[in-house]
Amino acid sequence: MSQVAVVTGSNKGIGFGIVKALCQRFDGVVYLTSRDETRGKEAVAKLNELGLKPEYHQLDVGDRSSVEKFRDYIKAKYGGLDILINNAAVYMSKTYEDIISTISINYKSILTLKEIIYPLVRNNGRIINISSDCGHLSNLRNEYWLRRLSKQDFSEADVNEFVNWYVESQKNNTYNPDDFADGGTIPTYRVSKIALSAVTMVHQREFESKNISINSMHPGLVRTDLTSGAGFFSIEEAAETLVYLALDAPQSLKGAYVWFDKKVLDWYDYKADYYFKLKTALS
Ligand SMILES: NC(=O)c1ccc[n+]([C@@H]2O[C@H](COP(=O)([O-])OP(=O)(O)OC[C@H]3O[C@@H](n4cnc5c(N)ncnc54)[C@H](OP(=O)(O)O)[C@@H]3O)[C@@H](O)[C@H]2O)c1
Repeated sequence: MSQVAVVTGSNKGIGFGIVKALCQRFDGVVYLTSRDETRGKEAVAKLNELGLKPEYHQLDVGDRSSVEKFRDYIKAKYGGLDILINNAAVYMSKTYEDIISTISINYKSILTLKEIIYPLVRNNGRIINISSDCGHLSNLRNEYWLRRLSKQDFSEADVNEFVNWYVESQKNNTYNPDDFADGGTIPTYRVSKIALSAVTMVHQREFESKNISINSMHPGLVRTDLTSGAGFFSIEEAAETLVYLALDAPQSLKGAYVWFDKKVLDWYDYKADYYFKLKTALS
C-alpha cells in the first residue's frame, strides 16, 4: 500500500514549496490540494515542468462537504494517509466578516479536519499544523486567558471559548489591544494561530493511542503573497523544517511547538520574547 502525504492550500506559497520538497524526497504519493481547481492544476503543471509528479485533489478546508468528498476519495483509493500538513490559511482583518473568515479558515477548519480526516491517519502518522510566531502563548497578555491556557490539560472547549471571547469583543466593540502583545497589532491572525497551536496539544492527546505525532510550527517570515512579498526566507528554505518534521524528526516529538530553525520551544512560556512584532515584517 502506498504511503500518502497531503498538503492543504498548496497551490502557492509555503504549501507549494512543501509539495515540491516532498515530491523530491518522500517515498510515496504527494497530494497538492487547493480550494480552487484551476489554480491547483496550474500549480501541478509548474511542478510537472520540473519533472515532479504530485497528485491533485480539490480541498477547501472551510467547506465541510469538500472535506468529506476528499475523505471518501482517499479512503476508497488508499485506505488512509500517513502525513497531513495543515498549511491553508488567510490573513484578512478589515471587516467583521474578515474576522469570522480568518478564524474559520485558520482555526475552525482544523476542528473539521480532526473530525473527518484525522481518523484516516494511519498508526505512526504525522500531522503538522503550520502556525506562526503569532501562535506562541507570549502573544497573549490577558491574565484570565493566560491562566486558563497555561493549564497543561486545557481542552478543545477552552480553546473555543478563548476564540469566541475574542470574536465577541470585536462584535461588541470591547476589543482591548492591551490583551495582546505588540500593542495588539493583527489580533485576529494572532488569535487564530494561538488557538491552532493550543489545540495541537489537545489533539496530540486524543491521537496518542495510534502513536501519531501532531506538532505545530512557525515557518519564519517567508516571502509569499500572505506577507506581500516581505520576508527573510524563500518557500524552499521554509519547506526544510517542514520536511524535517514530516520525515526526519523522531516520532517521539509530539504536541510540540517548533521554531523555523527546528528548535522546540516551550509554548507555555508566556513571558518569552517569541511573539510577532509588526516592525520586523515592515523593516
Ligand atoms: N509567509 C509567512 O511569513 C508566514 C509566517 C508565519 C506563518 N505562515 C503560515 O504559513 C502558511 C502558508 O502561508 P503562505 O505565506 O504560504 O500564504 P499564501 O501564499 O497566501 O498561501 C496560502 C494558501 O492557503 C490557501 N487557502 C486559503 N484558504 C483556503 C481554504 N479555505 N481551503 C484551502 N486552501 C486555502 C490559499 O489558496 P488560494 O490561492 O485559493 O487563496 C493558498 O494556497 C499559513 O498557515 C500561514 O499562516 C506564513
